Amino acid sequence: MRPWTNKSLGLGILGLFLVALGISLCVLRPIFFHHILQKGLALSSTSNSFKIWSDTSDLPPLIFKVYIFNWTNPEQLGIEKPHLDQLGPYCFREVRQKDNITFHHENKTVSYLQRRLWYFDAKQSNGSLNDIVNHLDVVAASAAHKIRYWDYDWQKTLSVILSTRKLYTRKTVDELLFTGYSDGILTMGKMMVTDPDIPAFDRFGWFYMRNGSAEFDGHFNMETGEGDIGQLGILRKWNYKDTTKYHKNPCNVIEGSAGEFWPPGRTKDDITLFSADLCRPLFYEYEGTTSHFGIEGYRYTIGKKTLGNATRRRFPHDQAKFFEQTTTTEDFFVAEHSAEMTGSTTENTYNGHSSENTDVYSDNDPDVINMGNCYCNGECTPSGLLNITLCRYGAPVFISLPHFHKADPAVLNAVEGLRPNDKEHSFSITLEPTTGIPLEVSAALQANVHLHSSEIVGLYNNVPNIYMPMIWFKLKAQVTEEMASNLRILLALPIVMLCSGIIMTIVGLCLIGAVALLSLFGKKRRIPQTDATTEKMVDNPEKKTEMVFMDKMGNNEDDNVKSDRRLYAKP
Ligand SMILES: *[C@@H]1O[C@H](CO)[C@@H](O)[C@H](O)[C@H]1NC(C)=O
Ligand SMILES: *[C@@H]1O[C@H](CO)[C@@H](O)[C@H](O)[C@H]1NC(C)=O
Ligand SMILES: *[C@@H]1O[C@H](CO)[C@@H](O)[C@H](O)[C@H]1NC(C)=O
Ligand SMILES: *[C@@H]1O[C@H](CO)[C@@H](O)[C@H](O)[C@H]1NC(C)=O
Ligand SMILES: *[C@@H]1O[C@H](CO)[C@@H](O)[C@H](O)[C@H]1NC(C)=O
Ligand SMILES: *[C@@H]1O[C@H](CO)[C@@H](O)[C@H](O)[C@H]1NC(C)=O
Repeated sequence: MRPWTNKSLGLGILGLFLVALGISLCVLRPIFFHHILQKGLALSSTSNSFKIWSDTSDLPPLIFKVYIFNWTNPEQLGIEKPHLDQLGPYCFREVRQKDNITFHHENKTVSYLQRRLWYFDAKQSNGSLNDIVNHLDVVAASAAHKIRYWDYDWQKTLSVILSTRKLYTRKTVDELLFTGYSDGILTMGKMMVTDPDIPAFDRFGWFYMRNGSAEFDGHFNMETGEGDIGQLGILRKWNYKDTTKYHKNPCNVIEGSAGEFWPPGRTKDDITLFSADLCRPLFYEYEGTTSHFGIEGYRYTIGKKTLGNATRRRFPHDQAKFFEQTTTTEDFFVAEHSAEMTGSTTENTYNGHSSENTDVYSDNDPDVINMGNCYCNGECTPSGLLNITLCRYGAPVFISLPHFHKADPAVLNAVEGLRPNDKEHSFSITLEPTTGIPLEVSAALQANVHLHSSEIVGLYNNVPNIYMPMIWFKLKAQVTEEMASNLRILLALPIVMLCSGIIMTIVGLCLIGAVALLSLFGKKRRIPQTDATTEKMVDNPEKKTEMVFMDKMGNNEDDNVKSDRRLYAKP
């Protein structure tokens, strides 16, 4: 019978089609998923991420907590260890906005400026902005530091100017952070500054001039991930250059993520972030897995590789070859030697970007560079401290983890009142490994000022050589439960694809089987029975699945729609 043959032929084809679709869904699943990630994660002016990237005001607030150390025995310096009393947290809500966003499709990057705004949150804070704090006089210490190699006369002049001052100032929290306070030395300094790159600070405050400024963080040029999602979020240029002027070659290269996007497919290798605040890249080491709202993430923290002063790392040859040109040979060997003496040669190796698995570099490899030496300019720091003097226009500012966590114990023992612990004082980033989406970021850093004696400047004649903790802050952001559930759906996609693939294959096979059976039965009973096939089959309990299916098909003109619905409803 022609109508019957047509129908079974149609069903057979549908079955084959389902089998083919099901199998290809299973086999090509990684490719489909990659494509979905590529489309969904790449940054463009129409992408989902664009809105919250360009303005975070609608996001759950980023919490910026600042702690200030109150120096309670400043008159006893040199007699007693400085005693520091932690005040705070002073909490601020941080909003980030992007300005001058320009997409460059020709090289798949986006350029932008970043503006950060802070709003004081009195309710969450422990203390008020009017609290009075004893703070090391940073302006005087910076001035003395800056001119320490200048002529005797200059230094003597400064000594006279400082003769009426104390080593510390008493200021409110507000003045020390955002509002700033004016100081005669800054006014004088302003007249002497000839470098156009140095902003003419008329006041001092740790975050003075930063609130609402689009220029302070600099100009960024970042990969959008268009075309190759593996490049997403990598900073290519900062202030229009691919190197900074603050460190020796090749430690001055701009590298790592700009901090907001990470490419999918995270491994347990180190990750790199470029910090505009510190003018250098930071390396994070894989620490373990943690879970946020049931989503597993890889946690990376700042450790030895960033904080150590003898970390060795292989650079690409075209970067490494510049190293010796900017250092004297003597310099180079002194640093190499000291690295060996501390026994850290094998422990501190850094292997972030090369593809080898070995952790020990050969001593004659010309591309392996001791980053400790590469980052010191003249002097080197004990481990745990990063010298950002040049990045802060000559003020002797050193960055560490809060409470000198993971730093040389000698640095910690020079002061009293700090109690480092891993829970509160580490700097960590947790990324969901499949998508690279950050689940939690807890950025914690401490600013310290290097105090050292000066023979000429009277105020500093007898001060000990210490790194004085001034303030520390923690910026914390986390996925919300809603974002987490969306992410869970995305992560379930490969499984859903696999299951639907398998179901389609099975149903397709059943269809083909049914058609084959039908044609067998049909041949046998063609003469006695014609159109009654459908009814007959319903009676047979073993063939239930196919029958229900057949039944519906038989009664419905729009075969595909109906069969699809049936297929999905069944599991
Ligand atoms: C900071 O320490 C000084 C000296 O001990 C004290 O007078 C001042 O009240 C302290 N500030 C706060 C906010 O506790
Ligand atoms: C609030 O600050 C005081 C000192 O100023 C400190 O003793 C106390 O532990 C702080 N409380 C919290 C919750 O941090
Ligand atoms: C930062 O600037 C905004 C907008 O000008 C202002 O509302 C806010 O109070 C400022 N925050 C601080 C801590 O000064
Ligand atoms: C990409 O192109 C833009 C516009 O020509 C340029 O400003 C930017 O520096 C380029 N970025 C890189 C990484 O070459
Ligand atoms: C920190 O860096 C500055 C600028 O390069 C340098 O003059 C100073 O000696 C360094 N200090 C230490 C302790 O490494
Ligand atoms: C590196 O750090 C160690 C431990 O803090 C210290 O003993 C050593 O002097 C430092 N090396 C240099 C070159 O400063």
